[in-house]
Amino acid sequence: MKELSKYLITEDGKMTKSYVWSFFTRLFHIFLVVTVAFLFLFAEFDNLLSYHVIIGYTVGVLFLFRIIWGFLDVKYSKFQDFNFNLYDLKEYMFNIFGSKKEYIGHNPASSWAIVAMITLGILSVLSGVFVYGTQEGMGIFSFLNTTIFKKMEFFEEIHEFFTTAFMIVIFAHIAGVLLERVLHGPKTLESMINGYKEVEAQSLKLTLFQKLFGVFWIGGSIFFLIYMLSHPTNILIADANKAVDYQKEHPLFENECRSCHTLYPPYLLPKASWVKLMDNLENHFGDDASLEATDTVFIKDYLVNNAAEDSTKEAAFKILKSMKEKDTIAITKTSYWKRRHQEIDQEIFASAEVKAKSNCKACHNNIEQGLLNDKDIKIPDIAKG
Ligand code: HEC
Ligand code: HEC
Repeated sequence: MKELSKYLITEDGKMTKSYVWSFFTRLFHIFLVVTVAFLFLFAEFDNLLSYHVIIGYTVGVLFLFRIIWGFLDVKYSKFQDFNFNLYDLKEYMFNIFGSKKEYIGHNPASSWAIVAMITLGILSVLSGVFVYGTQEGMGIFSFLNTTIFKKMEFFEEIHEFFTTAFMIVIFAHIAGVLLERVLHGPKTLESMINGYKEVEAQSLKLTLFQKLFGVFWIGGSIFFLIYMLSHPTNILIADANKAVDYQKEHPLFENECRSCHTLYPPYLLPKASWVKLMDNLENHFGDDASLEATDTVFIKDYLVNNAAEDSTKEAAFKILKSMKEKDTIAITKTSYWKRRHQEIDQEIFASAEVKAKSNCKACHNNIEQGLLNDKDIKIPDIAKG
């Protein structure tokens, strides 16, 4: 009797409602919708990069669940029950407004969309982990930042390509579901929430193993997300960028070049810039910053030996690449710097809290330890005058 209560039975004893999406399929779906929404939202904010990455990994774990689930002989959800027939797909697409064949599980359009989303989702996650490693020096591939960092923009483009394609398929999928709802009533959308479709069909029943697997993996992905959020130094997201103690590394540089402004890490400008700057200290942006000749040489050597050309940092690589004249002496005059800061209000730079563009440490609090991580960027709240 308990089983029967699941179905709506008509007078002649026919079932008009069938259970097609298991609890785990639906839980996976809702969890995926929420995480992917946050994934794209957080991608818009540099300082939320760590969260973007954590959620990206979680989406990867969820997609792995879906792939295995597709092979576990779960009726309607298994890939074997998908309809990849191109002729059916064409029929389905062309007859979307007319009456059409009723599909109990996934129709041809959603079958293709799901496989495309899984593939593009996994490729997005993998390419993302590569960008995170090569460009930021973070996460499991952080070692790539010291080896193939020159490929950072290549990986970035690949990541953007896959994520854009992923987003397009998601929108097509949502549009398809909404269109179907408008045209054919609440079938697909509601079924993804309550699991039932108003069709006469064989209802789904999970085996004990399938249930255990569902609890294990979906529960595991929630645990994974919580673990990642509470353990920011775990190997998957760990920061391999080492803080530099300039006071230890080069006390003279730190003492002399920090007295009037932010201590700019040497990797922010190329060798030629440092030479030019150090050879003209008596006329340094309108100030006289001149030093004794030996001290000047000592600092100049240090700057030249640690300049942008020898750094694997994203900022170094991109500033250098963006410079037309390789001896500009103001970081704030390079086109990379300008591009990255163009959305910031001039009012903020002029505010009492920031004062000048050159006052990097107002927003990059650990720049004087040689760090310029996205996650550490913070624009101070300015008092409105
Ligand atoms: C006497 C004060 C003083 C000292 C000492 C000094 N600077 Fe400067 N520096 C300035 C001023 C003023 C500016 C212009 C800031 C601005 O445009 O807002 C500047 C700007 C710079 C900039 C360009 C910042 C930008 O806008 O991108 C660099 C690079 C720089 N200094 C490097 C150095 C180095 C290296 C040393 C140590 C050898 C040094 N400075 C020591 C006063 C000083
Ligand atoms: C008013 C705050 C503010 C000041 C001052 C500021 N920045 Fe930034 N910076 C930001 C913000 C915000 C971003 C992120 C912009 C974005 O979303 O692309 C950023 C991005 C960057 C990036 C790119 C980060 C990356 O991914 O590598 C670099 C490099 C950088 N800043 C360097 C500097 C340097 C060097 C100075 C000083 C000469 C400076 N910034 C001054 C706010 C500031």
